[in-house]
Amino acid sequence: MTRRYSRITGTGSCLPPRRVTNEELVAELATRGIETSNQWIVERTGIHARHFAAPEVTTSDLAVPAAQAALQAAGLRATDIDLIIVATSTPDMVFPATAAIVQHKLGIAGCPVFDLQAVCSGFVYALTVADAMIKAGNATRALVIGAEVFSRILDFNDRTTCVLFGDGAGAVVLEGSDTPGILATDLHADGKHVGILCVPGTVAGGQVLGDPLLKMNGQAVFKLAVSVLDQAARTVLDKAGKTESQIDWLIPHQANIRIMQGTARKLNLPLERMVVTVHDHGNTSAASIPLALDHGVRSGRVKPGQTVLLEGVGGGFTWGAVLLDL
Ligand code: UT7
Repeated sequence: MTRRYSRITGTGSCLPPRRVTNEELVAELATRGIETSNQWIVERTGIHARHFAAPEVTTSDLAVPAAQAALQAAGLRATDIDLIIVATSTPDMVFPATAAIVQHKLGIAGCPVFDLQAVCSGFVYALTVADAMIKAGNATRALVIGAEVFSRILDFNDRTTCVLFGDGAGAVVLEGSDTPGILATDLHADGKHVGILCVPGTVAGGQVLGDPLLKMNGQAVFKLAVSVLDQAARTVLDKAGKTESQIDWLIPHQANIRIMQGTARKLNLPLERMVVTVHDHGNTSAASIPLALDHGVRSGRVKPGQTVLLEGVGGGFTWGAVLLDL
C-alpha cells in the first residue's frame, strides 16, 4: 500500500574494533618520515581517534552488523525488507553492488538493491531516494546504509589527508508511514569541482590506471562546505515550513569540527544541539551521518518525536540535507 510518508524506525552502526589514536598514528607515520602531531590534528579537525578495519574486512562486513542492529531496533527481520541501498565509495568489488553482497549476507533475496555513489553526501542522497521510492509505492521497508573502508584508499605518505579519515558503517530502517517522518529533502551537485576531492585512478585492461589513492584540496573543500551546508539547511526548513529554532538536533557530516561548529552557528543552534562523533570516528564519508545518528539515539539524547537535520557534503562536489521527525 502506498504511504504518504516514510519514517526511520530503527538505527544501527558498526565500527571495526581497532581504534587508532592520533598518538599511535603520528608514531606510525614518523616511521615513514611523515611529520605531523596530535596538536595539529586536534586543533585543525577535532579528531582524536579513528577506527581502521583489519585488512580482510570489507565494506559489506561492516554494513551487515549495522543493518542487523537497525533491524533489531525496528523490531523487524531481514525478510521484512524490500529495498536495500548502500551509500559507499569503497565498494567490496568494482561490481556487483555491495548492496547485493549485503543482501546475500543478510540471508534474503528478491528485493531491489543498489549502491549509491555520492561520497560523503551518500547517506543523505540514499535516504532521499529511499523516501521517494516508498512514497511512490515501490518499497515499504528499506534498509539505507552508509558504509566505508576509507583506510584502503588513503595515502599514508600524504599527511594532509591520511590523518582525517576512518572506517565504519551506519544503517537505518526507513518504513512507509501515515505520519512524517521525513519532512523535506534537498540534494545538489556541481561536477566542475570533481578535482578537489577524488580518487582519480580507475581499473582498465587488468590494471589500475592512474592514482588509486584519495586526493583532496582541503581548503577548497572547506570553503565550499561551509557555504553550501547553510543553503541546504535553509531550503529544507523552508520546504517543511519550519524555523531554525524547531531543530532539536543537527547531525552534520563529521569531517571537521570547525566546519560543523560554523554550520551550527549560522543556524543559531547552540553547539549542545549538535551530535559530534568526529573526535572518535574521524571522517567516515558516507557512514558518518548514520553512525552519528545511531550514537545519538543509543546514548538516549536523540529521542522519538524530535526534529533532526541531517547534512552531507563531499566529493562530486555533492551536498544535501534531510529534515525529519524521528
Ligand atoms: O569529507 C568531505 C568533506 N571534507 C572536508 O570537509 C575537509 C575540509 N577541509 C578541512 O577539513 C581542512 O582544510 C583540513 C583539515 C584538511 C586542513 O586544515 P587547514 O586549516 O585548511 O590547513 P591547511 O591545508 O591550510 O594547511 C595548513 C598547514 C600547511 O603548512 P604551511 O603551508 O602553512 O606551512 C600544511 O602543510 O598545515 C600543514 N599540514 C599539516 N601539518 C601537520 C597539513 N596537514 C598536516 C598534518 N600535520 N597532518
